[in-house]
Amino acid sequence: MSHTDTDVLSEQQITELHAASLFGTDISLNQEFAEDVDTAAFTFVGMLAADVSSGEFDLPSWPEVVIQIRRALEDEDCCIEHIERLVGSEPVLAARIFKMANSALLGRSEPVRDLRSAVTRLGFDMVRSVAISLAIEQIFHGEAVKAVKPYLAEIWLHSTKVAALAYLLAKRVPRINADEAYLAGLVHDIGKLYVLMRAQNDPVLFDCEDSLQEIMGAWHTSIGRAIVESWDFSEELAQAVSDHELYDLEGRGPPTLTDVVSVANLLANNENGEPSERVDLNEVPACHRLGLDTETCFDIIQSSEVEIKALHKALRI
Ligand SMILES: [Fe+2]
Ligand SMILES: [Fe+2]
Repeated sequence: MSHTDTDVLSEQQITELHAASLFGTDISLNQEFAEDVDTAAFTFVGMLAADVSSGEFDLPSWPEVVIQIRRALEDEDCCIEHIERLVGSEPVLAARIFKMANSALLGRSEPVRDLRSAVTRLGFDMVRSVAISLAIEQIFHGEAVKAVKPYLAEIWLHSTKVAALAYLLAKRVPRINADEAYLAGLVHDIGKLYVLMRAQNDPVLFDCEDSLQEIMGAWHTSIGRAIVESWDFSEELAQAVSDHELYDLEGRGPPTLTDVVSVANLLANNENGEPSERVDLNEVPACHRLGLDTETCFDIIQSSEVEIKALHKALRI
């Protein structure tokens, strides 16, 4: 190439030429790949948008027993015998109910030995949350997500941590249902599972981790909201899923489920993230509404370690 040629090239082209000479790659191939990724990302996002607006998601259906338990618990006259019978009909669920009832998360030392006592100790709301969490766990571990299992294992681990922290935070706040907070924590990143599930069939996009992460970051909250709405979860829970990353949401008034899940998510991220990525909790309005400062949050994390380990044991992690 002559000096004159270089003069008429744009700065961008020079950078690309320089990169190509450094890495010995063919520019046209790189450009082709970048264009392929852009096209794939554009089509993929269009598909996600269509799923969100239709409210129909290609997710495995829930086990029949979970559907029956949710239906039964919607009935105000539901009795413990009926729930005990339903839970007892599914050995995996019964085992999970026992483990949760005896876990440190519930803070009791005396173990329960029969199913009725386990159901009584948990309460109907937590029985529902445990049944739903089992169904969601099956999606995370199912055949339909085989190609993305390593990513999902990380998301599931994070989600269970957020669930335990949300439960413990909610216990400190009047008017927030801790069982609902636990469930909200478990499903707050369900949109990421869906994006990965869809992307595993798209080899071009799947190979470009940066684009995929970007799409996942931008879309998982609105997809998550639409998914939990399609599951008929409460509006409060859907709101928490949708807004859990809006840390700077100002506002007065009593703390909400969204505040609890946002702070639980922040605590989990702060603990695992690089020091430079950590958010100063004293600057977060949701922490103020929950009456928390950095020191109190640190104490909660320290004292919750046993409970989180117990939860992981109960959830087979
Ligand atoms: Fe998230
Ligand atoms: Fe999260």
